[in-house]
Amino acid sequence: MISCPTVRKSEIRFHYDLSTAFYRLLWGEHIHHGLWSGDESPATAQRQLIDAVAKRAGIRQGESVLDVGCGMGGSSVYLAREFGCHVTGVTLSPVQRFWAAGGALWHGQSARTKFLRGDAEAVEFAPQSFDVVWSIECTEHLFDKAAFFRRAAGWLKPGGRVTICAWLAGDEPLDEAGRKRVYDVCEGFLCPSLGTADDYKRWLTDAGLELTSYDDWTERVAQTWEICRRRVARTGVRRLSQLIHRGTTLFLDRFDAILEAYRTRSMLYGCFSARLPSDSDARATN
Ligand SMILES: C[S@@+](CC[C@H](N)C(=O)[O-])C[C@H]1O[C@@H](n2cnc3c(N)ncnc32)[C@H](O)[C@@H]1O
Repeated sequence: MISCPTVRKSEIRFHYDLSTAFYRLLWGEHIHHGLWSGDESPATAQRQLIDAVAKRAGIRQGESVLDVGCGMGGSSVYLAREFGCHVTGVTLSPVQRFWAAGGALWHGQSARTKFLRGDAEAVEFAPQSFDVVWSIECTEHLFDKAAFFRRAAGWLKPGGRVTICAWLAGDEPLDEAGRKRVYDVCEGFLCPSLGTADDYKRWLTDAGLELTSYDDWTERVAQTWEICRRRVARTGVRRLSQLIHRGTTLFLDRFDAILEAYRTRSMLYGCFSARLPSDSDARATN
């Protein structure tokens, strides 16, 4: 794991409060990478990513899902609309919470979705509340990832699944230049740490979950940042950010760092799925 001790939670919240409108304009209603197989449009690639995550999670009609770090509610609305899931979305950002509720209303999914302003590291849910804990590109921002997975396992019904996509530090050993690239990404994108794939596998299994899949999608997602870089260059967003908030300029300036980190595999992009054993599993092994 590579850490960046200067990141503060208040900064993460401020970033999403301030930047959500820009994400919407520049990238769409999902604040996550696209998953490419060829030359699809970014919107298609984003849709391909959530389709692939839903497949890994084994989402079934009508299941209850917790969407951790729900952003503008893109995944929550998708799961409600495509699978009739009942989705609770949690975001650190009050602006995003309102945005997500508005999006659900717009897409006719208010009855199946609810959005909370909360900290995933502190929020409480009753034990066995959800069939699936789903999280796309949020755990990067968590300070104690191992503790989060222990809590998430407690929210699952027996046989429930945790499925997450995460930015990862590259496999160890990383040389000094590689560690610096990951540190620069953490600093620019407000990640208190990036775990390696092995760290995530350990955190999931230590929480009592069985890993069911791990996909390394690094090569298939990286072009996200080439497209974002072109879009930022074409618009006046960088100049605007200089006027409004210096931290956001640092974020925009680190797009090259993330591309270089992916190119050198100092950083990876992974999707993990894990399952909480059920009572029938226990009976079968006895
Ligand atoms: C990169 S965005 C991803 C949003 C969404 N999952 C998507 O794919 O569109 C990261 C999200 O994590 C949320 N987040 C960061 N730290 C959080 C925390 N401690 N608790 C809850 N949400 C958090 C942010 O508010 C933001 O919504």
